[in-house]
Amino acid sequence: METVQKAVVLLGEKIGTISPYLHGQFAEHLGELVYNGVWVGEDSAIPNTGGIRNDVVAALKPLELPVLRWPGGCFADMYHWRDGIGPQSGRPKRVNVHWGMAPEPNSFGTHEFAAFCRMLGTEPYFAGNVGSGTVQELQEWVEYCNFAGDSTLANERRANGAAEPFNIKYWGIGNENGGCGGNMTPEYYMDLYMRYRTYVYRYPGSDPFCIASGPMQQDWPWTRRFFEKTCKGFWNRKGMMHGFAAHYYCGTAGKSATEYTAAEWLELLAKARAVEGIIVGHRTIMDEYDPKREVKLLLDEWGAWHPIEPGKPMGGLYQQNTMRDALVAALTLDVFNNHADKLYMANIAQMINVLQSLLLVQEDKVVKTPTYHVFDLYRPHKGGQAVRFLSGGESISDGGSFAQNCRDCYLDKGGAFSLKALEGSASVKDGTLCVTACNTHPTEPAEMELEIRGGKVREAKVVTLAGKDFLSLNTFERPSAVKLSKSATVEAKGKLLRIAMPPGSVVRAMGKVE
Ligand code: AHR
Repeated sequence: METVQKAVVLLGEKIGTISPYLHGQFAEHLGELVYNGVWVGEDSAIPNTGGIRNDVVAALKPLELPVLRWPGGCFADMYHWRDGIGPQSGRPKRVNVHWGMAPEPNSFGTHEFAAFCRMLGTEPYFAGNVGSGTVQELQEWVEYCNFAGDSTLANERRANGAAEPFNIKYWGIGNENGGCGGNMTPEYYMDLYMRYRTYVYRYPGSDPFCIASGPMQQDWPWTRRFFEKTCKGFWNRKGMMHGFAAHYYCGTAGKSATEYTAAEWLELLAKARAVEGIIVGHRTIMDEYDPKREVKLLLDEWGAWHPIEPGKPMGGLYQQNTMRDALVAALTLDVFNNHADKLYMANIAQMINVLQSLLLVQEDKVVKTPTYHVFDLYRPHKGGQAVRFLSGGESISDGGSFAQNCRDCYLDKGGAFSLKALEGSASVKDGTLCVTACNTHPTEPAEMELEIRGGKVREAKVVTLAGKDFLSLNTFERPSAVKLSKSATVEAKGKLLRIAMPPGSVVRAMGKVE
């Protein structure tokens, strides 16, 4: 029997504009993301353009992904950009020490990445090397990419095939520098940040946005100590920073990405839902030092992290992706929308074949994961005005292992740990309301009874993402087991829209506001 779940949209309660960058992506030199996932080389039998897979570009392009972070991750702090330019035959072979000692042929470098971004229509975000690099190396990378005039570096770029500058806007100053990026203290990193950032020059026509490497999970002390020194040190150097990037991985629950119980489904969704505490917690600390929010908060790595699939290399972080991951993505994007005033950019980890990916790629085959379909479903929110979405109902749990297992991820500050049977968000763009919502119950259908206050919606187009059951997934053999439904029209009855939600599903309802 369907449970009725009440929800209300308050059109008058505006939260903020939803930054399109909340749908950002991340591509690290890790496992089979770059090599085989994106890059096959011009001589490959797999159809490609300049070495980049056509099928992958065709699959990703419709998502209009706003930004792509590269080349890491941990890899960024050991990457030397000069290794990846010039004739392919002259590029040095390196070892990817962070990720399984895999060979790094450097066939995919600055120009190839810029070409990939151009094909997708996405903005590049470069993560610079602070851990094992030098200030000079970063300064020269910026000049190589962004200088339009006559200099040896700009001319080298031209000689390598790019007459026009790449105009890279987003520059990360290191990655997880409290961990794999150098094991620094926040105070030491803060000084290094300032030093490196000083040399990310604003060449004419370019407008760099510099991003400091922030905390992992709920590492509140990193945020506090970093901003304490930034703002209350020798002088206030906040103006040197455009963004501050936290990371949040909700982890896993159960035996693997594909083997879990209903309780473990709930456990993972609750851990994903806890991203709210991360956003609120870090922003609350930042607000003490930066009440006008001049420094933007980013979450440039997020997602589920399951055990590596059997038979896949240990260093490759390859995992399958089910409807549970779809709900992880949907809940997270809903939280982002509901905190549109606080979050500027977010990058799911990672785009292809690694962690919670949008695509799985093997030889000449490409599969769109359930997570891919969530990004597709949520596209209309981008650039919309987020408005308050409230759902009733109790927090749900199985009463046992859910609460037990989640104790570890309980956030001690900035947000309670909870999961409602119905979670969602709402936005308005060009007079059209977009509501997305998750029936988080793995086995019971629900009916969302949606009330719109502050305006009238006569009918809504509804699209649903659901599988056969809560374990559903797409495989190379059955690539479309999970896909978006056709759009159905739901007429309002009085003030209410009644929308059927299968167990463990995500829906989107869109309608003109009168
Ligand atoms: O996404 C995988 C890794 O997770 C990244 O390289 C690192 O930044 C994080 O710890």
